Amino acid sequence: MERLQKVIASCGYCSRRKAEDLIKEGKVYVNGHKVTKLGTCVNSSDIIVVENVELHQSKLEYYLLNKPRGVISSTNDDKSRKTVVDLIKTNTRIYPIGRLDYDTTGLIILTNDGTLANKLMHPKNKIEKTYVAKLNKIISMEDYFKLKKGIVIEGRKVKPTNLKIKSKSKNKDECIIEISIIEGRNHIVKKIFAHLGYEVIKLKRERYDFLTLGNLKSGEYRALSIKEVKKLYREERN
Ligand code: URA
Repeated sequence: MERLQKVIASCGYCSRRKAEDLIKEGKVYVNGHKVTKLGTCVNSSDIIVVENVELHQSKLEYYLLNKPRGVISSTNDDKSRKTVVDLIKTNTRIYPIGRLDYDTTGLIILTNDGTLANKLMHPKNKIEKTYVAKLNKIISMEDYFKLKKGIVIEGRKVKPTNLKIKSKSKNKDECIIEISIIEGRNHIVKKIFAHLGYEVIKLKRERYDFLTLGNLKSGEYRALSIKEVKKLYREERN
């Protein structure tokens, strides 16, 4: 038996808090009966209807994918491009937690656990992500230190938690930089470097919180272990 608001959130319908509001507002029915009490528990055979939508309770699934280039980070695409969901063999309706651009590669998590997705995407939870970016020019020391101290993008300061120049190619005039940020804004790494006058010509996410790609090749994925899921849920995020 699980609390009703938790089950609604796990189905990906909305956050747990929003589910509590919907219950209090009388918009949730269990087996045809309106439920307004927050302590109510349900099991997997109960039929839950929220705002006239029947929820499908399914087993929770969690995957870590090494996203290839040219794949879109959503559940479907109006231009019929391949999505990250197409790469995972499951009959469950999973979705990516956050986004990587079409041309960005690397680590992305997919799940049908709405509670975890909401938790990880909430800015207060400060998930650190590490990217490796290839720039079209060698970064100047002045820009490197400017970025290290933090720069303002669209009115909000971004300060990398870690910044490392991995290599410089003098003949090609390119460099590779590792950058870790807490930020979750769309295209944030490209925006950071564009702000400083550089173009990101390749971008890969190598780490998401404590998770890394390990031996996964491009397009490969694996299920997360229960231990890893529990760690993502860890207490200090509540
Ligand atoms: N920042 C970007 O610019 N692109 C991504 O895909 C992820 C972070």
